[in-house]
Amino acid sequence: MEKAKTIWMDGKFVDWDNATTHVLSHTLHYGNGVIEGTKAYKTDRGYAIFRLEDHTTRLLESAKMTLIDIPYSVDELNAAQIELIRRNEFRGDNVYLRPFAFLGYGVMGVYHKDAPVVTALAAWEWGAYLGEEGMRRGIRLKIASMNRASNTSNMGKAKASANYLNSQMAKFEAVECGYDEALLLDDQGYVAEASGACFFMVKNGEIISPPNDNSLSSITQKTVIEMAEDMGYKVTRRRITREEVYVADEAFLTGTAAEVTPVREVDARIIGGGERGEITEKIQSAYFDIVFGRNPKYSDYLTYI
Ligand SMILES: Cc1ncc(COP(=O)(O)O)c(C=O)c1O
Repeated sequence: MEKAKTIWMDGKFVDWDNATTHVLSHTLHYGNGVIEGTKAYKTDRGYAIFRLEDHTTRLLESAKMTLIDIPYSVDELNAAQIELIRRNEFRGDNVYLRPFAFLGYGVMGVYHKDAPVVTALAAWEWGAYLGEEGMRRGIRLKIASMNRASNTSNMGKAKASANYLNSQMAKFEAVECGYDEALLLDDQGYVAEASGACFFMVKNGEIISPPNDNSLSSITQKTVIEMAEDMGYKVTRRRITREEVYVADEAFLTGTAAEVTPVREVDARIIGGGERGEITEKIQSAYFDIVFGRNPKYSDYLTYI
């Protein structure tokens, strides 16, 4: 990971190397923390953060769900993120922001409400999450043996650190088996989402993505659906079975970090022509036009620094 200069912690900018916490911090032991993943792109007019308001709002909503009291408003956190990008003097095209809140040092029981809340904002330069080659050629997906945790036993709508144990185990299994990324099914056997992104497939010209019944309410998925409809595609939200995935014409993942990543193979079944599909390529290129500020219709989604 590429270090940056400074990290915002509880209202103050501290040097990257000094942004530390005690080993007995509550979240390190019991896992209650919330995170965001937001991106800033270097446009012709300087850096712009994509859908900042939506990401910061989701952070506060995740915290509300998991009973963490973040003592800052959306506006305060937005202003701090803008300042964070300024102070770090980045140069590259892609900057990833990681706003988060966790429970600090002072309480060791599971009951968490007396533990202090730490809010932090970090940012660093980070390129294609699933690799440059994956963006061009497509990646290989494995359906994980573990389901996405069911709605009756987790808070799947929260972007909660604890949910990433499920993602992490699935991702490890996929990588260990020689794949790039894991696709998780829900407890009914329908596609939920990838370990860190949403799933889309294309069949007979129609773009299909599962509802968010058992997945994060993804901001990129919403953007891609809006954009694809604007481009004239029919987009349907419905449950998808494993077998449908295997015979899709095209497939791709979407997420703030994954952006629009083509899928060329799932569980040893070649998807379409085994390369980035035609519709996927158009969606990918339209997405980059939006985030890099080349499509004025979506300029409201960009917060220029
Ligand atoms: C588990 C999971 N699902 C979906 C997404 C996509 O969400 P978004 O488009 O809001 O980044 C992410 C990543 O951020 C994720 O970690």
